[in-house]
Amino acid sequence: MRVLLIGGGGREHALALSLAADPAVDQLIAAPGNPGIAAVAQRRPVAATDPQAVAALAVEVGADLVVIGPEAPLVAGAADAVRAKGIACFGPSAAAAELEGSKSFAKGVMAAAGVPTARAVTCRTPDEVAAALDEFGAPYVVKNDGLAAGKGVVVTDDRAAALVHAQACEQVVVEEYLAGPEVSLFVVTDGDAAVPLLPAQDFKRIGDGDTGPNTGGMGAYAPLPWAPPGLVDQVMAEVVQPTLAQLRERGTPFAGLLYVGLAITAGGPRVIEFNARFGDPETQAVLALLETPLAGLLRAAATGTLAAHPPLRWRPGAAVTVVLASAGYPAGARTGDAITGAEQPGIVHAGTARDDSGELVSAGGRVLCATGVGADLGQAREAAYRLLAGVGLAGGQFRRDIAQAAAHGRVALP
Ligand code: AMP
Ligand code: GLY
Repeated sequence: MRVLLIGGGGREHALALSLAADPAVDQLIAAPGNPGIAAVAQRRPVAATDPQAVAALAVEVGADLVVIGPEAPLVAGAADAVRAKGIACFGPSAAAAELEGSKSFAKGVMAAAGVPTARAVTCRTPDEVAAALDEFGAPYVVKNDGLAAGKGVVVTDDRAAALVHAQACEQVVVEEYLAGPEVSLFVVTDGDAAVPLLPAQDFKRIGDGDTGPNTGGMGAYAPLPWAPPGLVDQVMAEVVQPTLAQLRERGTPFAGLLYVGLAITAGGPRVIEFNARFGDPETQAVLALLETPLAGLLRAAATGTLAAHPPLRWRPGAAVTVVLASAGYPAGARTGDAITGAEQPGIVHAGTARDDSGELVSAGGRVLCATGVGADLGQAREAAYRLLAGVGLAGGQFRRDIAQAAAHGRVALP
């Protein structure tokens, strides 16, 4: 099978490693890829958010399967364009990707499907925002209604800061605060059948102890020893199946990766957000434990044959991923710093590049991540931090507490 992978971040490097390890894959092409991905795939340039360019590349390389990693090409319609060429594509249509592309669209689908989520109001004017903030009270949650790469959400006790964030956005969703530990559940689906991966947790804030501003994600681990028994089955029944049914009814079935971001509240699991693609960095941890060949699974979802796919097999134990971010992230990101020690198994590249002399340098906010696997979370943490200790990056920032509370049995359910 010849696979074309679209994207070039940490998630795509993790996907590339798993795809390349699938014996059914004899050629892997990544566009644009990154210097880490270059070790397992041929790199090609592409304008990923131009659907016709993605489809033309798929035809040119003779792809049997296209896997689209990031949300922007999906929202732009890259999967539609690839399928229009008669090529199997893992990734939802533009219409279905609106689950991620528009917070208010997602809220509408959830309301119609009876999916438990935070109460929310879509606001267009400062007066509407002020009224919604006062209705729900602190902590205030204000979300940019469009795609914002994980940085469009402000959660704050400071009413003035909530108003300032709203003013910087064209349209916002103001919602009720959900208290409880967060879960990321990835579901592979062909629109009908749906297969959950291991639940994971990510760490959104830049600082230890969940302090400082939100980021794209500073670390992750899987599975979740503290998760209530039956959590995944409950989320499949109460969230995933009704959402997929609702999108089928609308004539826009969702086929691809449905990322369900949840808070486990006192009232049960509630959806915080949907994404239309694998999460980053949770994918790095989850795929480190997946033994089932990935390309076969994604092809089954892309061809509507997921119901016939054998059950997933998982490596026992746990995986922990720690992100190394550049100086200044997330407000800005210093780039061009030399990186050493990044060519080791377990290191996944996100924002890296080669400079004119071929040296590896930082090229984005999240630069790379280290994934450790072990018999339990404690061992996986040790492995991840040991790996990261061998990497050099001037001004590099990383959290020291990834998976720490879970490893010590200190994640409390409300
Ligand atoms: P989102 O982009 O919607 O995932 O939001 C980013 C982060 O903000 C989430 O991972 C949560 O940590 C936090 N968040 C978003 N919505 C809520 C909410 N309703 N209640 C509590 N925290 C939230
Ligand atoms: N880890 C959060 C995300 O991928 O959106």
